[in-house]
Amino acid sequence: MATYIVLLGPPGVGKGTQSGMLARKIGLVHISSGDLFRENIKNQTELGKLAKSFIDKGELVPDDVTIAMIRERISKPDCKNGAILDGFPRTPVQADALKKTLAEFSGQVKAVYITAEEAVLIERTSGRWLCRKQGHVYHEKFNLPKQAGVCDVDGSELYQRDDDKKETVANRIRVYFEQTLPLVEHYRQIGGLIEINGAQDVEQVTKDLLSALKR
Ligand code: AP5
Ligand code: MG
Repeated sequence: MATYIVLLGPPGVGKGTQSGMLARKIGLVHISSGDLFRENIKNQTELGKLAKSFIDKGELVPDDVTIAMIRERISKPDCKNGAILDGFPRTPVQADALKKTLAEFSGQVKAVYITAEEAVLIERTSGRWLCRKQGHVYHEKFNLPKQAGVCDVDGSELYQRDDDKKETVANRIRVYFEQTLPLVEHYRQIGGLIEINGAQDVEQVTKDLLSALKR
């Protein structure tokens, strides 16, 4: 049965970083709802324009458009053996839609919850830099590029996300507690939720994740 790994956790905890590591180690596709929205914003699509109005405020994009975007992405052939879902689902309505979609594909969900305290999230989001071309992630203290301001992988310029401003991060954390944490409880109650301490260094978090997924 195809396995879809769902990565849950607050802003800046390392979902994107760990999804990239997992994708390389276990060979599943990495799908990030935030990256898909940023790609649409860059390409100035209608979806991008709508998403930007929510993302800039640190609010969630409405469920219907988010679900349609992910449904379309996971229907592609490269996801037929499973995928790593980074940042989706984020509300109970999205989780329900995912369950229905995966029932059609005979897929199962493995939910992973990565945690860290708020001070860690603020330090990580405020020091994050991304590359313009493909969204590769760096940090000015924990994951420096070889050359300042330039992506090691594709040579494109690095930039900081507009929604990583202090006030917007504070709202994203608030929204996370209000709208996404109930979902963590839902996955905990149905059993099998994997909980990982995200406050450790990147390599240790990956090790913990891989060994928990093997169990
Ligand atoms: P999204 O892009 O998903 O943002 P997020 O969930 O807030 O999470 P981040 O991407 O900020 O953090 P991350 O956990 O991926 O951390 P990262 O690995 O980069 O969503 C953005 C917006 O899009 C949302 O606010 C919403 O508006 C909209 N959206 C997205 N999905 C949606 C959905 N399903 N429904 C509705 N709306 C949706 O790491 C952070 C930094 O820390 C990096 O610099 C990294 O290098 C560093 N780092 C990572 N791990 C470590 C470590 N272990 N030690 C030290 N540094 C580390
Ligand atoms: Mg991310």
